[in-house]
Amino acid sequence: MKTTKQKILHLLIKEAPNALSGEKMGQLLAISRTAIWKGIQSLKDDGYGIVSQGKNGYALPYLPIDEAKIRQQLKTHFLGQKMQVFPTIPSTNVFAKEEAQQKPENGKVYLAEEQTLGRGRLGRVWSSPKGKTIALSMVLTPEIPPMEASKLTQIVAAAFVEATKNIADVQIKWPNDIVINGKKLCGILTEISAELTQIHYVVIGIGINTNLSFEEMPPDIQEKATSLLQVLGKEIDPNHLIASFLTTFEKYYAAFIATGNYQPTLQICRQHSAVIGKEIYVIQQDSKRLAKAVDIDEKGQLLVQFENEKKTTPIFAGEVS
Ligand code: BTN
Repeated sequence: MKTTKQKILHLLIKEAPNALSGEKMGQLLAISRTAIWKGIQSLKDDGYGIVSQGKNGYALPYLPIDEAKIRQQLKTHFLGQKMQVFPTIPSTNVFAKEEAQQKPENGKVYLAEEQTLGRGRLGRVWSSPKGKTIALSMVLTPEIPPMEASKLTQIVAAAFVEATKNIADVQIKWPNDIVINGKKLCGILTEISAELTQIHYVVIGIGINTNLSFEEMPPDIQEKATSLLQVLGKEIDPNHLIASFLTTFEKYYAAFIATGNYQPTLQICRQHSAVIGKEIYVIQQDSKRLAKAVDIDEKGQLLVQFENEKKTTPIFAGEVS
């Protein structure tokens, strides 16, 4: 049974990004305008970015994340069967890890319309302004050796390529970034809790720049990053992308866990690599070395040929630029 507040939210989500008057909402829900006003205030307190638009009423001025809409399109067996959507949260990865520490729920998905302390790799900040990006974290409990966990990042990247193939020509910048024309569209943060031989849980966080305009990006990333809005010239429905990504990811992930089959992922990662064949810098601990990216091997490692070397060296983790 939905509360009045949830019903108001549902009406605003259905109407978004357009406004709905207090009077109209009152009629639709058969309640007073004062009750509508109270509900709106309470939703604002919860962190929903509702704006008042004078006599036009109230609006969510962006395309909101809507669990019901995601479910209509989601074709998964376990992934996202449990889902939690936050209007605002410090970080979905941090929250997911806190819950997983108590009880890891395989396939649980956390989504947020805004993160106030979004985390990137290597202690960096990840910007997720309200209604402009997708912040998604998923908890997995794969029975694979911890050394294999980095393959999960590659499965995410491959699933993202598949899920967006009809709308954009994206490439994978090994190991964690999705780029368009060299600019970052999406970042993946894989965090693992494990013993030497056993994984307790993995939290994979994905940040996708969906409807973020150039002006809305922090100045220091404007030249390095992009968004689907900037590439396509129009807003995209985050719910469709979320459902499509989760459905595709589960397909590749389940096959990998059941049979160890990593080939489909490897094929996509190779075909859509932004680095293979290019000169890159390999950044590891304190060193930054020039190399040529040659291939990705069966373990998901990047094979590189360092400057002045004939042999190829597999890189398990690190950063390339
Ligand atoms: C990177 O490129 O450095 C990784 C960025 C990962 C960002 C996502 S957004 C959802 C999840 N929550 C976080 O705080 N970070 C990840």
